Amino acid sequence: MDFIKNMTESRFFDEYFEKKYLHADIMAKSWFSNLTKKIDFDHILTSQYLSQNRIQVIQNGINISPSEYFKFLTMSNGSVQESADILKVISLYDKGCTVLLPSLQNLCNEVRLICIKLENIFQVKIRASAYLSPPNSIGFLPHYDGHDILVYQIDGKKSWILESSEQDLPLSGNFEPDKGKRLLDCELSKGQLLYVPRGVTHTVSTTGGHSIHITFSIAPWRISDIIPKISTIMFENFFNTDSIFRESILSYNKNEDQIIQDITDKTIQVFESMKDREVIEEIVKEFYFRQRMDRISSNSGILNSLKSISCIKNNMTWTFVEDSNFKLISKESTFVIHFKSKYIELDNSLYGTLLLIMNKKKGVIKDFLSVVDSDIVTTSSIHNFLKILVKNSIILVSQC
Ligand SMILES: [Fe+2]
Repeated sequence: MDFIKNMTESRFFDEYFEKKYLHADIMAKSWFSNLTKKIDFDHILTSQYLSQNRIQVIQNGINISPSEYFKFLTMSNGSVQESADILKVISLYDKGCTVLLPSLQNLCNEVRLICIKLENIFQVKIRASAYLSPPNSIGFLPHYDGHDILVYQIDGKKSWILESSEQDLPLSGNFEPDKGKRLLDCELSKGQLLYVPRGVTHTVSTTGGHSIHITFSIAPWRISDIIPKISTIMFENFFNTDSIFRESILSYNKNEDQIIQDITDKTIQVFESMKDREVIEEIVKEFYFRQRMDRISSNSGILNSLKSISCIKNNMTWTFVEDSNFKLISKESTFVIHFKSKYIELDNSLYGTLLLIMNKKKGVIKDFLSVVDSDIVTTSSIHNFLKILVKNSIILVSQC
């Protein structure tokens, strides 16, 4: 771990990963410390359309109803877009509520870059959430999660109490854990990092001052998640190839005990026939490569595979077509542009570019390239994205 003082990657995975918490200072000038300098929360809160899956307000374990801080905007194309009313959010913050920004990696390039770096280490999808807490506040009540978290304190201080729980390596979280043995009582200061393995109960609060931290969630594959998915594919393959298992279970002239015996025998026969290592390995391979595509963010974006459809040059101007008719729907790692009779699903790395287009209405293409992080969105993916927008009449482009 080149960002944690005195900690190699192999030592982290041997001694800490899924085993024990780690409270550490980060290395000076490491890539984490950029977050403290570069994230502009005012900008994130005021210049983005924050839908309900991008902002939550919580206090003492209660989710404040979105009706208390959401407004509905009618866009120039007639569509209705929900968005958080930031003045109401600030007013709730002043009353002691914590503002949570889930999936921050989709709103902020600096955070997305850290997620990509962490994904390269952990080899799983990493999600980031920011917690903005006022003084003397509690967001979530004591709980443990079903995934590990890496917490980075951006500003202010936060008190963390860690306790053991009754559940070793839980698969899901629990908001009503029994009291366990106290493991740590610390105050996380600006620039410090805390690793909390799944199953460790945490009680988090602020005292005298405010706090901003980012939680990076690490949820590796577990065999318990994989087996049900792989089994479905295996059973389908198996039933398609051997007709004996597609036969009906005959209950004619049989009592209940005999029918249960019949079903048990056939089930055992199925499981025994499925022990072929080569067949299982083929299915696992197919599953692995398909899932890996979804779980690891692509630096180049999915659009690179699209063929050129027209010529886009950096010095061209673009204009948003005000009466273009589409709806935006956010998903986990993608977003969808819905037109009347079709839809296009795109990587979330381009969501910010589309919002910029909708807000600014017109501009020069090279301006996009100067504001996006080239590690996350490549020039060619922006070009291809603009071609899609041109093709679907969302923007017009012309030579300067
Ligand atoms: Fe948690």
